[in-house]
Amino acid sequence: MNLQRYLEERSRLVDRALERVLPQNGTLPGMLNQAMRYSLFSGGKRIRPILALASGEAVGAPLARVLPFACALEMIHAYSLIHDDLPAMDDDDLRRGKPTNHVVFGEGMAVLAGDGLLTEAFRVMAEGALRHGVDRTAALRALREVAIGAGAAGMVGGQVADLEAEGKKPTRTRVEYIHTRKTAALLRAAVRAGALVGGAQPKEFARLDRYGTALGLAFQVADDILDVEGGTDKTGKRAGRDAELHKVTYPAAVGILKAKRRARELLDDALAALKPFDQSAEPLRQIALFVVERAV
Ligand code: IPE
Ligand code: IPE
Ligand code: MG
Ligand code: MG
Ligand code: MG
Repeated sequence: MNLQRYLEERSRLVDRALERVLPQNGTLPGMLNQAMRYSLFSGGKRIRPILALASGEAVGAPLARVLPFACALEMIHAYSLIHDDLPAMDDDDLRRGKPTNHVVFGEGMAVLAGDGLLTEAFRVMAEGALRHGVDRTAALRALREVAIGAGAAGMVGGQVADLEAEGKKPTRTRVEYIHTRKTAALLRAAVRAGALVGGAQPKEFARLDRYGTALGLAFQVADDILDVEGGTDKTGKRAGRDAELHKVTYPAAVGILKAKRRARELLDDALAALKPFDQSAEPLRQIALFVVERAV
């Protein structure tokens, strides 16, 4: 398969669906709508929604049924980036090669745009499940997965740990604790939600979960490596921010070479988890390769 083409097609599908969720001339207060759209349509890779769709695809789900969950995951991701960039957090002024949300709209509006995206995400999942007649238990389980992945025990908790760790000794234990929560939890939730809505059997679900866990962690290891080596051209973000902020990152904990080795190990584990699947899991395999190979 041609991954580039696949990612473009899936991104377009997600973008069209997101346009319906949050139209330019919708009913929301004008400035809030603009601020939410600014971060939702500023050129992200759409990895989380594409993972949810690909996970559903691996168990034979129709794309339309997973799509609302995919959109919700991207909305939650967009919110997390707006808040992550705030002066009170990572204090970043550049994202995807553009000024960050609070630089354009002000801090108050940025906080609220994030709140709006997070809350609307749950509306979108609920409405989507109703519209597509998703099995009630599967829908509720998928909603629970997203709430856990994004919530206090998942991404939010990880962001707290990330802030609290600034300036502390970067140990491997500490960095794994942070990364499994702040980033891996939502990526894993994307895979799990796609599988649930797609009607995965328990054995398939366990395999996909192992894939999502490994890939989720690999994703943040790769992000850390790119912060050191990637440069703004490649990442659209200011380079070297993690070191400036004394963040606990993988390269800080174990050095760049071992961080790369860990990313490759996690890639191997993600691919091993998919062994029993046929061609239907090829997109998941290719996405894992793409995520890691960008950085190592
Ligand atoms: C950046 O995520 C934040 C992390 C969790 C590392 P992405 O690398 O998926 O960001 P976009 O959406 O493609 O810009
Ligand atoms: C992001 O981690 C985690 C989130 C939940 C947003 P980073 O702080 O490393 O993400 P970037 O590098 O700013 O995208
Ligand atoms: Mg951060
Ligand atoms: Mg950041
Ligand atoms: Mg980073």
